[in-house]
Amino acid sequence: MAEQGFRIGVLTLSDKGARGEREDESGQLLAEMVAPLGRVNRYQVVADEEETIVLMLTTWTDELQLDLILTTGGTGLSPRDVTPQATERVLDYQVPGMAEAMRTASMSKTPHAMLSRALVGVRGKTLIVNLPGSPKAVRENLQALLPALPHALGKLQGDPTDCAQL
Ligand code: MTE
Repeated sequence: MAEQGFRIGVLTLSDKGARGEREDESGQLLAEMVAPLGRVNRYQVVADEEETIVLMLTTWTDELQLDLILTTGGTGLSPRDVTPQATERVLDYQVPGMAEAMRTASMSKTPHAMLSRALVGVRGKTLIVNLPGSPKAVRENLQALLPALPHALGKLQGDPTDCAQL
C-alpha cells in the first residue's frame, strides 16, 4: 500500500533475464521494498547493453519524469557489466554519500561488496540508484538507503523543509 506518492521505475539489467532464461527475483524484490514510497509505474528487464540502458534511463527521466529509478544488476567487473558506465553518462550529478552508504553497510555482510561500482545520482528531478544483481545484495544495499530516501526525494521535488528540524 503506497503511503507516499512517488513515481518509481524498476529496471533490471540481465542478459539471461532479457532472454527469459532467468526469473527476475531482484526486480520483484525491489518493487516490494519500495512499495511504501509510492507506485511502481515502470518495470522492465533489458539486456546488459550500454546504449539500451542509456535510452531507458533518459526516457524514464526526461519523458516520464519518474521520481526514482532503481536499477539492479551489471555493477560488477565482468565484461558485460556496464550499468555504471551508462548511468554516469546520463547523470547531471552524483550523490556519492548514498553510494558510499550502500558499500559501507554491505562490507559488514561480504568483502565482495567492494566490487560493486554502483552509482547514485540525479538527472533532472529524478534520483537514479544502481544496485547489484542478486536478491541478497538488493535487500542489503537498499536497506541502507531507505531511511534517507523519502527526504532525498522530497528535496528533489522542492520540499522547503528545514533539514535541521529532522
Ligand atoms: N553487496 C551486498 N550487500 N551483498 C552482496 O551479496 N554481492 C557483491 C557486490 N555487492 C553483494 C554486494 C558481489 S558478489 C558483486 S560481484 C558486486 O556486488 C556486483 O554485483 P553485480 O555484478 O550483480 O551488480
